[in-house]
Amino acid sequence: MTFKTLDHADVRGKRVLVRADLNVPMRDGHITDLTRVERVVPTIKEIAEKGGRVIVLSHFERPKGKRVPELSLKPLAEAISEVLRQPVAFADDCIGPAAEAAVAALQDGDVLLLENTRFQPGEEANDPAMAKALATLGDLYVNDAFSAAHRAHASTEGVAHHLPSYAGRLMQAELEALESALAKPERPVMAIVGGSKVSTKLDLLGNLLGRVDVLVIVGAMANTFLAAKGLPVGRSLQEKDLHDTAREIMERAKSTACEIVLPVDGTIAQEFKAHAATQDLPVEAEYDGMSLDVGPKTAQLIIDRLKDVKTLVWNGPLGAFETPPFDASTMLVAKAVADLTIDGSLRSVAGGGDTVSALRQAGVIEDLTYVSSAGGAFLEWLEGKTLPGVKALG
Ligand code: 3PG
Repeated sequence: MTFKTLDHADVRGKRVLVRADLNVPMRDGHITDLTRVERVVPTIKEIAEKGGRVIVLSHFERPKGKRVPELSLKPLAEAISEVLRQPVAFADDCIGPAAEAAVAALQDGDVLLLENTRFQPGEEANDPAMAKALATLGDLYVNDAFSAAHRAHASTEGVAHHLPSYAGRLMQAELEALESALAKPERPVMAIVGGSKVSTKLDLLGNLLGRVDVLVIVGAMANTFLAAKGLPVGRSLQEKDLHDTAREIMERAKSTACEIVLPVDGTIAQEFKAHAATQDLPVEAEYDGMSLDVGPKTAQLIIDRLKDVKTLVWNGPLGAFETPPFDASTMLVAKAVADLTIDGSLRSVAGGGDTVSALRQAGVIEDLTYVSSAGGAFLEWLEGKTLPGVKALG
């Protein structure tokens, strides 16, 4: 796909609308993870240093077109300011007189954050009037919110049709990393897909079948596949109504020459609780408990297979990693992926909320080739869908 980047934009003296994704995790009014702020600051800084007037737009949570004081973006102005080491002004609306006055007060190199775009009903409706109102505030539009690019909203899609539009540095990095992982990858390519439900990943599995050489299915969703093959799964989480679908996926894999790898053993417990007693059993063994992680033989099998692949796309943990000891296999594989990436033999791209938390828990976020900041957008991209916010930049 082709898109213009900041290299093509002349921002000096211009009002530059920067769509960020400041939908950060917050507890009791405090930001608990600054990753999304840290990742968008390079774009803000570059534009400010080049003499642009930066106007940052973002949604926060889902206020559904109403002003909800607890969902104000105001605390984010301070957070950006601290990371950027420069004052950041705040306007308590994203369109209309308050926004216009704040924009008019900007000097070259200044930064302004506008209030939550989802306080306006026109945002999620992608109302053309809202898109136009946003466009009157800027001369250029820079979208740096890949993680919100699956939403066709006024600030992610509509506004791009009214102004010269560019990808910010984070958007650019996401698109380049994802493209190198699936569109033009170095082969063989492996995908590891985990998580609890096959039903939420059907489109994703369908798309990956035609694109990767090895598809590793782990997490509770693997139980549905094992059960569909007639293997015992005890009281493990599974989707009984999807056995036919699982069998179809396995059949289709044969015609696309994609090898599906399923767990060969599981870590079984009677109760899902931290530090529960466990037993590692081969998948052929009958049991009465629940499989809450793939077993050590499966982790080793994945690690061995990784040594032969050049590119890895990873979405979804191998087990219930938030609750030890069911984090064991996810941690082992995360560390192996990090080591192979550091050695230069593997290009590794991972994304999705749980996957990122698992990689953070393993302490390897910085070691992979690229860890996407996106949740839903990363999934839709893996499903092969066109993201409206990205398309509008083309
Ligand atoms: C995200 O956190 O994935 C994005 O900010 C999108 O948020 P949404 O699912 O509320 O649109």
